[in-house]
Amino acid sequence: MAKLGVNVDHVATVRQARGINEPDPVTAAAIAELAGADSITVHLREDRRHIQDRDVEVLRKTIKTRLNLEMAATDEMVGIALKILPDYVTLVPEKRQELTTEGGLDVVRNRQELKTAIEMLQQGGIPVSLFVDPDIEQIKESHRLGADTIEIHTGAYCEARRADERQLELVKIQNAIRAGRKLGLGVNAGHGLNYHNVQEVVALGGIDEFNIGHSIVSRAVLVGFERAVREMVDLIRKEG
Ligand code: PXP
Repeated sequence: MAKLGVNVDHVATVRQARGINEPDPVTAAAIAELAGADSITVHLREDRRHIQDRDVEVLRKTIKTRLNLEMAATDEMVGIALKILPDYVTLVPEKRQELTTEGGLDVVRNRQELKTAIEMLQQGGIPVSLFVDPDIEQIKESHRLGADTIEIHTGAYCEARRADERQLELVKIQNAIRAGRKLGLGVNAGHGLNYHNVQEVVALGGIDEFNIGHSIVSRAVLVGFERAVREMVDLIRKEG
């Protein structure tokens, strides 16, 4: 059965919008674990736009499942990972201007830089996952570089509007799962998955773990909104 990794980055996005200490992604992670999440994912971006170093440090001490640290393959991030010792690292491409991770790693073009990061992390006892598009060459190269796992970027499937496009993207994901499995890699998947599109991917089988963030945080805001307003209404109506 596939596992669920919950990405709590966007709880931190709301906190950072005010620059105060709530909502705390660490509390969200604890609630996710109580609700059955199998792991917690955070992306410590170079620009620290949502998750902060403190969050990763506290999560490391409080998480009871597994901590997946998403990061770019830079010296700074490798140094942080070796200090924090997450249960695994997912290497992702990172551009300052992007709203979110836009595509998978170009493992073929960046093999030297990735090889160095993978080796350093693995020597420090941290398994490494590479976030890649459902592209066989990228998956083969990930295997050659010694990655433990690949995370298949599901964004193109999630964004496809036409049924034929969507089907084509689903087939690419299926072929990527097969290729990863054949090479003995762990196979995760994520990006853009929501309450309407995840089941078709689950039905393909062969995925160890789904990493899902935005749709869960979005739903939490809406399903929790009524209760939050009622609680404030109760306080306001209690005069004197
Ligand atoms: N997996 C990876 C590697 C990601 O970069 C992200 C986005 O941070 C996710 C999964 C989660 O994507 P989403 O927030 O769209 O569920």
